[in-house]
Amino acid sequence: METQNSSFRRLPFCIFLGIFMLLGFLTTASQAETHYHEFVIQAKPVKRLCRTHDTITVNGQFPGPTLEVRDGDTLVIKAINNARYNITLHWHGVRQLRNPWADGPEYVTQCPILPGRSYTYRFTIQNQEGTLWWHAHSKWLRATVYGALIIYPKLGSTYPFPMPKREIPILLGEWWDRNPMDVLKQATFTGAAPNVSDAYTINGQPGDLYRCSSKETVRFPVDSGETILLRIINSALNQELFFAVADHRLTVVSVDAAYTKPFTTSVIMIAPGQTTNVLITADQTPGRYYMAAHAYNTAQNAAFDNTTTTAILEYKYAPCNAKKGKSSPPPILPQLPAYNDTNTATAFTAQLRSPSQVKVPTQIDENLFFTVGLGLINCTNPNSPRCQGPNGTRFTASINNVSFALPRRNSLMQAYYQGQPGIFTTDFPPVPPLQFDYTGNVSRGLWQPVPGTKLYKLKYGSKVQLVFQDTSIVTTEDHPMHLHGYHFAVVGMGFGNFNAATDTAKFNLIDPPLRNTIGTPPGGWVAIRFVADNPGIWLLHCHLDSHLNWGLAMSFLVENGVGQLQSIQPPPLDLPQC
Ligand code: C2O
Repeated sequence: METQNSSFRRLPFCIFLGIFMLLGFLTTASQAETHYHEFVIQAKPVKRLCRTHDTITVNGQFPGPTLEVRDGDTLVIKAINNARYNITLHWHGVRQLRNPWADGPEYVTQCPILPGRSYTYRFTIQNQEGTLWWHAHSKWLRATVYGALIIYPKLGSTYPFPMPKREIPILLGEWWDRNPMDVLKQATFTGAAPNVSDAYTINGQPGDLYRCSSKETVRFPVDSGETILLRIINSALNQELFFAVADHRLTVVSVDAAYTKPFTTSVIMIAPGQTTNVLITADQTPGRYYMAAHAYNTAQNAAFDNTTTTAILEYKYAPCNAKKGKSSPPPILPQLPAYNDTNTATAFTAQLRSPSQVKVPTQIDENLFFTVGLGLINCTNPNSPRCQGPNGTRFTASINNVSFALPRRNSLMQAYYQGQPGIFTTDFPPVPPLQFDYTGNVSRGLWQPVPGTKLYKLKYGSKVQLVFQDTSIVTTEDHPMHLHGYHFAVVGMGFGNFNAATDTAKFNLIDPPLRNTIGTPPGGWVAIRFVADNPGIWLLHCHLDSHLNWGLAMSFLVENGVGQLQSIQPPPLDLPQC
């Protein structure tokens, strides 16, 4: 009697609980949020390396604000240009499905936002989680205009690893003791390589090893024993970097907002544009430990910034002796690989795998082979102030011998959408115009590419294989290639010339990592695959900004498919006009 009674009384409660859970589920499913932000682009005095510069910032912050959203959320960011330069903003790695209007590269998907004007970027995060970032996409403004974009999983969905309570964004940057826009201007005039930076930075600060920088060295307090997620972003303009934390191991769990099979390493290599999430456990003797980054440099006979940036991992409740020494630098710097340690860099990148099997296209519709590299323009008057490159030349760069020239009169997307002729052509070559020993001794006659605004057309849904082949023209080099609007599977890489007959068979079509930026091994090749399921015009370029300015870029024109869901959305009304 008693049991019956109580279970009878429990019944309405069960129903109530059921309804409650159902409601909970329904609200979770529809809980996507819209985040509104105002990004005011403005000059702000910023002091580094003993000197103050009028630095272009967002909202006066350097680095810029961190955006935190969940998968499925919408961002509405009003960019107000109160600076003296034209500017655009790019959300690096966001797929922007059917929405190239929010992508941002200047003269590709939009005209610049002029000083005094504004433009509102509206976009939704669709099936992406992890760390991405945002940056200016106009000239060299991204030297100081950048910030993190953190995408948490949807409410109620979990991480493929125990997610620590504490997470720290680590933005690696590059600082010039000059206006970076002037550095670019000078290089564009002289044709020589731009001046190298004066410092690297962690979250905007160079750290203890630079002049006038000790006091501001970034410190990260941690509890002894706790695990932390570091969201590492290479936002440096022109340099791949090695990063390590003294005496601590790093467990890589995600790159470019895609999870990876976890693996442990003492050092990571990260190229401009890439992000790497690592877990780190404060399991050492309580104290203070440097984290540090310095160059991984692959170009031969080229100047580079060989300084080291540091920040401090600081155990809370450190014993007295560690505490007493608080104002003096901690004793240990991490062992970073030598600047030219390609073995370590390559081994690191080659270890990356998706956590489980991924869908990789196997029947290929478009087999593309792109040579990427530098070049030299011969001058009629080698003594000209405009020909200060090697032996009286000007530096340039190209893909398949085409040096990408941005249009001036309109953006590619706007010209395409409006059917305006004369802005671009669609005859970008799928293979180099000439076959040669790409990584051997290349005849001088092949060093000067042809400028052009050439696009490569892809049918909606076509399955693409693209091999990037580094060349030894001027120098072999690691070129971090970034494709807008997509992520791709990195199915293979190697040194020397790509050999379709033997190398294709070795591709990883099971669990290749998904990325938006991948470097060519210096004097080597890297192969990617993707499905062209995002209509629009999408820039593909080397994420070393000096190379981008020399023309190491091209664009894909992905045609609309069938119906509205496979077609480009109409442009927003406030899209800037040229
Ligand atoms: Cu992060 Cu076109 O760039």
